[in-house]
Amino acid sequence: MTTITNSAATEIKTERTGFNGLPLRTRRIYDLVAGVYPLSTLLFHEKAHKVALSLAGISDGMKVLEVATGSGEMFRRLVRINRSGMTCGVDLSPNMAARTQRLARRRIPRANAHCQAVDARSMPFRDGAFDAVVCCYLLELLGADDIMNTLGEMHRVLRPNGRLALVLIGQNMPVFNAMYKIAGGIAPAFWGRQVETSIPEAMDGHGFAVEHDQKVQQGFYPSRVMIARK
Ligand SMILES: C[S@@+](CC[C@H](N)C(=O)[O-])C[C@H]1O[C@@H](n2cnc3c(N)ncnc32)[C@H](O)[C@@H]1O
Repeated sequence: MTTITNSAATEIKTERTGFNGLPLRTRRIYDLVAGVYPLSTLLFHEKAHKVALSLAGISDGMKVLEVATGSGEMFRRLVRINRSGMTCGVDLSPNMAARTQRLARRRIPRANAHCQAVDARSMPFRDGAFDAVVCCYLLELLGADDIMNTLGEMHRVLRPNGRLALVLIGQNMPVFNAMYKIAGGIAPAFWGRQVETSIPEAMDGHGFAVEHDQKVQQGFYPSRVMIARK
């Protein structure tokens, strides 16, 4: 059982009021954009994906879970490394999950890789089922309680001493932050809100010990990569 510190929960709550009820809209929007989303991954996320992968300690033969696969670019990297292990993926959007599954099967045919449409807030995996969990750019889309639930779920499904690789949108560039706030106000279900600075305390409250913390910049887009042990 883990304890969430009050201040972490309160800080995220203060930032994220009004986020209840977004998951349905989030699912619809990401379903709509699934076909073109790889471009966004290429332009904004690829560099942080590579950094996360280089630090996450993933090797062949592991049981690995990616939470919120999007269109599957990171998922395929994981499957390529983990050809004789088992790689599972989940995404709230059925179109994203289907695309991830289809392309992984097509491009790495003999790998043990499965991606399903699953809500990260409550995942159908047993406790301690995975050696490593990877999650990139999801927490921005969740309300305060859902961030806590999802971190709790990722902690639950990791084996003791297993690693979480978490990638967030960085909050270290004021101009970018101002633009993101405008984008998030226009389409909150797609852009969400920046939460990066609140997450380390929430992770700590869930019993994650951060081992590595790195800022990554891809063009104008800042990310933060955190690697933590259960
Ligand atoms: C910003 S995209 C990031 C995709 C990918 N991880 C990447 O790094 O490019 C966020 C993804 O989270 C998924 N998502 C949103 N809420 C979710 C939830 N509650 N459970 C699982 N996936 C969710 C969306 O469908 C979308 O594919």
